[in-house]
Amino acid sequence: MNLALNMNQAAPSISTAELEIEIREIRKSYGETPILKGLNLEIPKGQAVALIGSNGSGKSTLLRCTTRLIEPDSGEVILHGQNITKLTGARLREARSKIGFVFQHHNLVPRLSVLSNVLHGALGRKPSARLWFQSLATNLDREEAMYCLERVGLAQFAARRVTQLSGGQSQRVAIARALMQRPTIIMADEPVASLDPQAGEEVMNLFFQLSRSENLTLLFCTHHLEHAVDYADRVVGLSKGTIQLDQESSSISVAELRGIYD
Ligand SMILES: Nc1ncnc2c1ncn2[C@@H]1O[C@H](COP(=O)(O)OP(=O)(O)O)[C@@H](O)[C@H]1O
Ligand SMILES: [Mg+2]
Repeated sequence: MNLALNMNQAAPSISTAELEIEIREIRKSYGETPILKGLNLEIPKGQAVALIGSNGSGKSTLLRCTTRLIEPDSGEVILHGQNITKLTGARLREARSKIGFVFQHHNLVPRLSVLSNVLHGALGRKPSARLWFQSLATNLDREEAMYCLERVGLAQFAARRVTQLSGGQSQRVAIARALMQRPTIIMADEPVASLDPQAGEEVMNLFFQLSRSENLTLLFCTHHLEHAVDYADRVVGLSKGTIQLDQESSSISVAELRGIYD
């Protein structure tokens, strides 16, 4: 696997590419406290977007409202042209299965093998008890899970238990599990906050490479401003319930980004 950055591959611009995520006038309050105040955001297919903002500014709320893991109070979410605002049941599950979610903590099942954990990623698109253990899975599913592990550079660890992996490796398995969903979008909520700096760089590099090589749309939140500049095409800053900053990462410095924390 080539983890080297290739900044020569151009990022899609909003005017020319189809939109993958459209967030329109999203509002969300907890009790009397408004968190998102009519927020708008459009992300074209294949773009890598970093979401920054102080603790409590609503980054996680925004990611979860976009998948309706949290219900917004009002507003609309359109994913690859499909308005998901009012979907329910199987149709909502199907729309959600196109979004691979990666969290700060990998949430893998420790007593199972790496391969079994990756297989679980397919459960959203085809619920089947055979996916719980790799020994019960079909050959095709196992092959696909192996392919997902290859894409994160961990095929050689397929038979290991998750407890035998480092933090960075575990997070890469979580990414392989997300890939098993066959997503078009990857959302990552502070995916490297629990990792050491070296592992954090590797994981961010992997996200960025996947976004480029597979045209996956990437939306991640982070407190590492260097990561926002280095591994995103665009940086969006959340403050006071709306987007206060929205710039191409090539045209902004870490020092300028610090302004969003004032
Ligand atoms: N389930 C909840 N109930 C009440 N308040 C919440 C809940 N979830 C988040 N909040 C509050 O909403 C605000 C935004 O939280 P969050 O989206 O997690 O911010 P961030 O991810 O930017 O740190 C915070 O003040 C948090 O305390
Ligand atoms: Mg958060």
